[in-house]
Amino acid sequence: MFSGKARAYTNIALIKYWGKEDQELIIPMNNSLSLTLDAFYTETQVIFSEEISEDRFYLDNQLQDSKATVKVSRFLDLVRSKAHCNLSAVVQSQNFVPTAAGLASSASGLAALAGAASAALKLDLAPEELSRLARRGSGSACRSIYGGFAEWQKGDSDKTSHAVKIPSAGFENDLSMIFVVVNDSKKDISSRDGMQRTVETSAFYPGWLTSVPQDLAKAKKAIAEKDFVALGEVTEASALKMHGTTLAANPPFTYWSAESLQVMNLVRQIRNNGLACYFTMDAGPNVKILVERKNETALLQALNSHIATQQLVVAHAGPAIKILTEANGTASTF
Ligand code: ADP
Ligand code: DP6
Repeated sequence: MFSGKARAYTNIALIKYWGKEDQELIIPMNNSLSLTLDAFYTETQVIFSEEISEDRFYLDNQLQDSKATVKVSRFLDLVRSKAHCNLSAVVQSQNFVPTAAGLASSASGLAALAGAASAALKLDLAPEELSRLARRGSGSACRSIYGGFAEWQKGDSDKTSHAVKIPSAGFENDLSMIFVVVNDSKKDISSRDGMQRTVETSAFYPGWLTSVPQDLAKAKKAIAEKDFVALGEVTEASALKMHGTTLAANPPFTYWSAESLQVMNLVRQIRNNGLACYFTMDAGPNVKILVERKNETALLQALNSHIATQQLVVAHAGPAIKILTEANGTASTF
């Protein structure tokens, strides 16, 4: 019996990943840049054992159906093949984040699975190798290997496509991200399907791709210079451009709801009144607001008169993935 356990935190992209060059290997069309967060995470334990004949996947203590289990099994096959192991596994995962609601459960979920499975089979992967492995489960998961800011460098092969940590001299600790949860139920169109439809059919997709390198350069410069306004502006612009591509897809779609638009307008209004804050959104209706930590309380007060307190979740920069020992202590971290 071989057992491994890991905790990985979600990350939210400031410069979005949207579209794949290679769907099987999950090589993206563009680089992306994210902030790992402390508020939402996944803990996963993987036990490979001679005593079972097929993989079993429990999410939040519920045995998952064959569709969800096949996804996990296919990922475990990659780990088994690296470790020359043919044992089946029991996977027990707890999401401390709503699943499939645009709050990045796939990032923390697949990073934790990669960490736990590779620890169980003693693969002893360096951070970039673990990032490459996590990427095969879900693209955004490759960024959750690191704490703080990370850049997924698209590369052009399985070997060269992985995330790296962005040096930031602690700038991430000056930031807060407020999640406005307008709806935490499962979305209709997964990010995987949404981005593929957009790549294949959206007339706006080429414009998206052309604009990413400039946006990425602006974001990295803003991080290096600890320039919050520049980072916020490019974060909001990247999200709007990404969501713009979905409107020109065939069939067209949007992840925005009426509530999302209300929150985006509210952010603009608060900003016009002098408080610097910027929104971003992923493949779901929830809105995330980037603000300087020193202005977090003022922003919460401004939001409170329009949004119920229980819809607001405050997050700060989160740590790297942790491989947990039996005693739940931290064995190693990147
Ligand atoms: P989200 O916005 O939450 O990332 P996605 O549709 O991109 O939504 O991804 C959700 C999918 O990620 C789930 O359907 C499941 O396949 C996978 N996932 C989420 N949490 C876990 C987990 N803890 N372990 C394994 N897979 C997970
Ligand atoms: C909008 O990483 O969930 O959140 O690679 O198909 O699993 P797959 O997609 P996923 O997509 C995330 C898309 C996004 C933007 C981002 O996180 O960069």
